[in-house]
Amino acid sequence: MAVLTSIRKSLGFITKRESFSKILLGTGCLSNVPENTVYGGPKPQDPNQRVTLTNLRQKHKKGEPITMVTAYDYPSAVHLDTAGIDICLVGDSASMVVHGHDTTLPITLEEMLVHCRAVARGAKNPLLVGDLPFGTYESSTHQAVDTAVRILKEGGMDAIKLEAGAPSRITAAKAIVEAGIAVMGHVGLTPQAISVLGGFRPQGRNVAGAVKVVETAIALQEAGCFAVVLECVPAPVAAAATSALQIPTIGIGAGPFCSGQVLVYHDLLGMLQHPHHAKVTPRFCKQYAHVGDVINKALLGYKEEVTSGSFPSSAHSPYKISAADVDSFSKELEKLGLSDAASAASAAAEKLKPLNNQVGEHQATK
Ligand code: KIV
Repeated sequence: MAVLTSIRKSLGFITKRESFSKILLGTGCLSNVPENTVYGGPKPQDPNQRVTLTNLRQKHKKGEPITMVTAYDYPSAVHLDTAGIDICLVGDSASMVVHGHDTTLPITLEEMLVHCRAVARGAKNPLLVGDLPFGTYESSTHQAVDTAVRILKEGGMDAIKLEAGAPSRITAAKAIVEAGIAVMGHVGLTPQAISVLGGFRPQGRNVAGAVKVVETAIALQEAGCFAVVLECVPAPVAAAATSALQIPTIGIGAGPFCSGQVLVYHDLLGMLQHPHHAKVTPRFCKQYAHVGDVINKALLGYKEEVTSGSFPSSAHSPYKISAADVDSFSKELEKLGLSDAASAASAAAEKLKPLNNQVGEHQATK
């Protein structure tokens, strides 16, 4: 109580009515938000900046292409945000490009939720769409709605995406929309169905297949979907679907006649130099960078410098202790019988001395 009274006194503006927890929160006692120290965390979100379905509809109406990219963690989400990408998809492709599986089938809902939450912390502007993972929405519409609800409530997403084809998926999409959740459909190559498709194969390459792509896309629109992904279909088939729909189509390996495009983050950045990844990078993907090469080079440089002892130099040893304190510290260590430690402290201070001064000057000019 004495502590509380003194806090109350120091915060003169707090009235008697304010609760104990509010006072403690106000002073930071119950918060894990770091103060302005060595490490920082995510910034609070401005609710007005998020891309909405209305924004997407307006873009589509004006014929402005919609951009969508996948993200799976906080840093990739921040990059999408900074680039002004319209839609951020937490795709089940995480199973392959993040977890190293050969297909999208193994990823679990719990794993997807972890990715969703990290992305939600990083991407403040794009519309956030989370994939329903394989095995979490096929059994019944109840199961589909329950999973979609978890993606929003526990994953912090704005909408979900599901792979379609069978009538039961269209029914599930409708039920999810009726539950108040925006749904993006996905037709063409639906990677969760490789078992029946016979592998990662392009779809709609004959008349029956092409008609099926367009009909499924229309059925998803009628179920209330706000957009449909068209994956790995010939450009004329994508053009037909785009023309037949009032909602936007988002193409991936589907040519240029879609309302927007989506690529997998790791693919477009050229991050997939590892043989496993090289194997799964699709032919249609344009690499806008070779980030994998940059990463490899940086890691080799780091390894080389740590091994040779050139990292960290003074420039990357920024936390200082005055020469006088090093002296007293060494004396204390001597008293404790730690004379080797005392010599180590003095020698380190001596070795870093000249460059430490330069760092100080540099920081002072910032
Ligand atoms: O999971 C994913 O990344 C996707 C895109 C390929 C559309 O579904």
